[in-house]
Amino acid sequence: MNIALVGSSSLLSRCLIKDLSSEYITTYGRQNADIIFDAENIETEIIESLFDLDYDVYVFNLGYLQPKRIKDQSSSNIIKSLSINALFTIKSCEYIFDNNPKARIFIIGSESGKKGSFDTSYFLAKSMLRSYTKERKLSFEDQQLLLVSPSTIEDGKMTSSRSDTETLETYKQIHPKRRFLDSSEVSQLLFDLIKNPSTYLCNTEIELNGGKFSRMSY
Ligand SMILES: NC(=O)c1ccc[n+]([C@@H]2O[C@H](COP(=O)([O-])OP(=O)(O)OC[C@H]3O[C@@H](n4cnc5c(N)ncnc54)[C@H](OP(=O)(O)O)[C@@H]3O)[C@@H](O)[C@H]2O)c1
Repeated sequence: MNIALVGSSSLLSRCLIKDLSSEYITTYGRQNADIIFDAENIETEIIESLFDLDYDVYVFNLGYLQPKRIKDQSSSNIIKSLSINALFTIKSCEYIFDNNPKARIFIIGSESGKKGSFDTSYFLAKSMLRSYTKERKLSFEDQQLLLVSPSTIEDGKMTSSRSDTETLETYKQIHPKRRFLDSSEVSQLLFDLIKNPSTYLCNTEIELNGGKFSRMSY
């Protein structure tokens, strides 16, 4: 299997590279990757020059979280967030789906796309990925589009760089599983989805949240 892995520096991507070690993986990143790119640049010609059309699988794992409310974010930072967290991925998918009839695309979303975030730009961008995944009708029967949306990943950089450790500890205690995810657990789910040859699971969001949004109790 030929796989393009976009956002290769994240721990989740590094776990996936390990899990998929028997496959041929091309890494995309800002540095130390096979293909160097910047997701802030969403010009069509740039995106079209980045992606070969003979990959079987494309994984988009990009994230940019700001420790500021949207009202305190500059317009350029809001646009940066929308580009990195959604528009780069969506424009790339459009190009790939139009030109690669066997493309299977897996995008990393977030529970924030459903429930919101301290950073509204991040929430809105991740919610764009949800709408896109659900509504983008695919033209070829072998194509696949899935959004995998984890809740807090304890060892992910976006969590480990947070300073509100007490708040995180409180969230953990009230979580039904009394723990957060780790990157290898998310990677294992992606591995299972990629290795499953069926593409019937399509245009849907897989929420990996341990049941934290269920409300009815007895
Ligand atoms: N951590 C969590 O609790 C959590 C929860 C739910 C969902 N997620 C999602 O899980 C994924 C991985 O998160 P993580 O915690 O592992 O964080 P991370 O290590 O910061 O991963 C984010 C990735 O995005 C890349 N990226 C950021 N800006 C970029 C740009 N301008 N151009 C190209 N690449 C860029 C980063 O590359 P650089 O190294 O070059 O910055 C990195 O590879 C993200 O999609 C995130 O939204 C995380």
